Amino acid sequence: METTFPFLMPKRPRRLRASKGIRRLARETRLSVDNLVAPLFIVDGKGIKDPIDAMPGQYRLSIDVLLQEVNEIYDLGIPAIALFPAIEDSLKDPYGTECLNEKGLYPKAIQAVKSACPGLLVITDVALDPYSSDGHDGIVDGGVIDNDTTLAVLAKMAVLHAESGADIIAPSDMMDGRVMAIRERLDEAGHINVAILSYTAKYASAYYGPFREALDSAPKALDGVPTDKKTYQMDPANGEEALRELHIDLEEGADMVMVKPAINYLDVIHRLSMESDVPVAAYHVSGEYSMIKAAVQAGWLDEKAAVLEATTAIRRAGASVIFTYFAKQIASWLKS
Ligand code: PBG
Repeated sequence: METTFPFLMPKRPRRLRASKGIRRLARETRLSVDNLVAPLFIVDGKGIKDPIDAMPGQYRLSIDVLLQEVNEIYDLGIPAIALFPAIEDSLKDPYGTECLNEKGLYPKAIQAVKSACPGLLVITDVALDPYSSDGHDGIVDGGVIDNDTTLAVLAKMAVLHAESGADIIAPSDMMDGRVMAIRERLDEAGHINVAILSYTAKYASAYYGPFREALDSAPKALDGVPTDKKTYQMDPANGEEALRELHIDLEEGADMVMVKPAINYLDVIHRLSMESDVPVAAYHVSGEYSMIKAAVQAGWLDEKAAVLEATTAIRRAGASVIFTYFAKQIASWLKS
C-alpha cells in the first residue's frame, strides 16, 4: 500500500505511546501510596463490623475491629487514616455537647490507634454534625447556624483531639474563622506541632449522601421544613470563591488545604494547586465511591481501571493528598 504522508509529518505523538517502556518514561503523573488517606467510620461497642448499605465494602467499626483494620492499612504503607464517629442518637443535642466528652468514642479511638500503631498518622474531623441533634456542622440558633458561638466549641474539640494523640486536625465545618480559632487554642495548649488540614473549598454537594447515611448525620427538618448546608458549604457554581477561601485559610495558618468533592471539582483543585504554597488535598467522597461501586457491581465498569483513572486524574489536577475509600485497594494494586 502506498504511504502518502510520512514526509509531511515530523511530529508523531504516538511514538511516546508505542510501548509499555516508553509510556513509563513519558508518564507525567505518578500515583503513589504516599498520596493516600483512608477514611474510616467508628462506632461504640465490641466486635462490630456493621456494613454501610450505600457504600459496599465500607463498615462502621468498633475500636477493637478498627485496630485490626488499622494494622492492615499501616502494613500496606498508607501514611494516614481519617476517623469519623457514628454517635448514638441518645448522645446528640443541639450543642453537640458529646464532642467534648473526654471519655467519648472519638478520643478513645484516637488513643487506641496511636498506641497500637504510632507510625500511622491520625487525621480527625472537626465539625458538630455527628454530635448535633439538628444534623448541622454548627450550632443552630433560631434556624440560623451561629458561626461565632460554634468556633469556641470547634476549638475545644480540636484541643481534645490533639490531647488524645491526633496528628492532624481537619475542620470540615466551613465556619468562618475556624482555622484561626483552632490554631490559637492548639498553640495555647502547647500543641504547636499538631497540623491543620482545612476543608478550604467544601461544596454543598449531593455526593455526601452515603456518608450521611453511614453516620446518620443528615441535616434535620426544622418545623417540618427540610434544611440544607448551603449557608456554610460552597455553591458548586463557584470557582473564584475557592481562591478567597484559600487566601483566608493560608493567612489563618492552615498547613494544608482541601477541595471536596474531587472529580466534579478538578478545575478547583488545579486553581488551588497553582495558587497555594502548601500541599493541596482532595476528598474523593462517599458518593463518588458509591457510584463506581454500583457500576462495578452491575458489571458496567472495570473497578481497578476506573478507580486508578479517577485517582490519577485527581493527582494530575494537583492534589498530593487524596482521601479515598479505595485507599486499601489502590495500595494493593500499586504493589502488584
Ligand atoms: C461533615 C462531613 C461530611 C463529609 C465529611 N465531613 C458530610 C457533610 O458535610 O454533610 C463527607 C465525606 C464523604 O461524603 O465521603 N462535617
